Amino acid sequence: MAAVPKTTEIFKENIFAGKVVLCSGGGSGICYTMTEAMVQHGAKAVIISRSLEKLEKAAAKMRSATGGQVLAVAADVRKPADVENAVKKSIEAFGRIDFLINGAAGNFLAPFEKMSYNAFKTVHEIDVQGTFNLTKAASEHLKASKGSIINVSATLYYTGLPFQSHAGSAKAAVDALTKHWAVELGPFGVRVNGISPGPVGDTEGMSRLGKLRKAGETESRIPLGRQGVTMDIAQSCVFLFSDAAAWITGHTLVVDGGAWMNTSFVDYPSAVLSPPTSRL
Ligand code: HXC
Repeated sequence: MAAVPKTTEIFKENIFAGKVVLCSGGGSGICYTMTEAMVQHGAKAVIISRSLEKLEKAAAKMRSATGGQVLAVAADVRKPADVENAVKKSIEAFGRIDFLINGAAGNFLAPFEKMSYNAFKTVHEIDVQGTFNLTKAASEHLKASKGSIINVSATLYYTGLPFQSHAGSAKAAVDALTKHWAVELGPFGVRVNGISPGPVGDTEGMSRLGKLRKAGETESRIPLGRQGVTMDIAQSCVFLFSDAAAWITGHTLVVDGGAWMNTSFVDYPSAVLSPPTSRL
């Protein structure tokens, strides 16, 4: 995996001291590292997902890596009562919510014709309805703290990736929510942005989805020449939540090494490094 600098090597320590981050899907993968980075910079964290057992392990790992305070609360983002309880528990434990990361997402590879009606609905319920539910439940606290939201998206729908119509269409809706909420919450001092990660190699989800490609094929298609790591996404998270991004709202930041833009039909990258001289 690439040696990407830690956020503490780029941003000041304690920039989020006294703040609280609430993250859905924070027990694993990209969202775990995003949340851990926030705690490294002084925030207290609440991580939520369905399995309390997995969450407790993740919270213990995060505490020992950072020395910070981390609370695990079981909640299914599809259930309003669950997310309302998670928000209540966050306030009881830490008194405020400054940052919200909507990271819970469902995904699997499936041709749309083979997918059951319920499979499509399930992914939309987790990604879109879940993002709505948690944001609605937390919004009064985010307004009170003049906080900030990051919706985790994906580049899947930019190019019509096959077998991802359920997840791609859900993320398109998430990107729309980012814009609508940026406009609605801006007057309250709340910024709403998105992060759209490309192929991040060090997650369980990606190692499952990545099996569609031959070894090395993903890297060879990425203009910056490597797969991402979760720390690449954490860097963007810390940036977007920091005051360095104080005038950025409604934007979904693609963090993918240029991956989605490369639709080369030539042998890439060798054709770019040694360009053909003849006219097409
Ligand atoms: C087809 C599937 C399926 C599969 C589940 N279903 N897995 N259909 N292929 N592999 C169907 C089920 O048959 C069922 O429909 C419906 O989906 C709901 O499944 P359940 O297991 O009952 O629901 P639930 O436990 O609530 O959730 C299932 C799940 C979830 C949505 C699949 O387990 C999940 O998403 N796990 C993976 C999470 C993940 O990896 N997240 C990271 C996302 S990263 P029926 O009709 O049978 O009732 C990301 C970035 C993408 O999105 C980057 C890609 C390049």
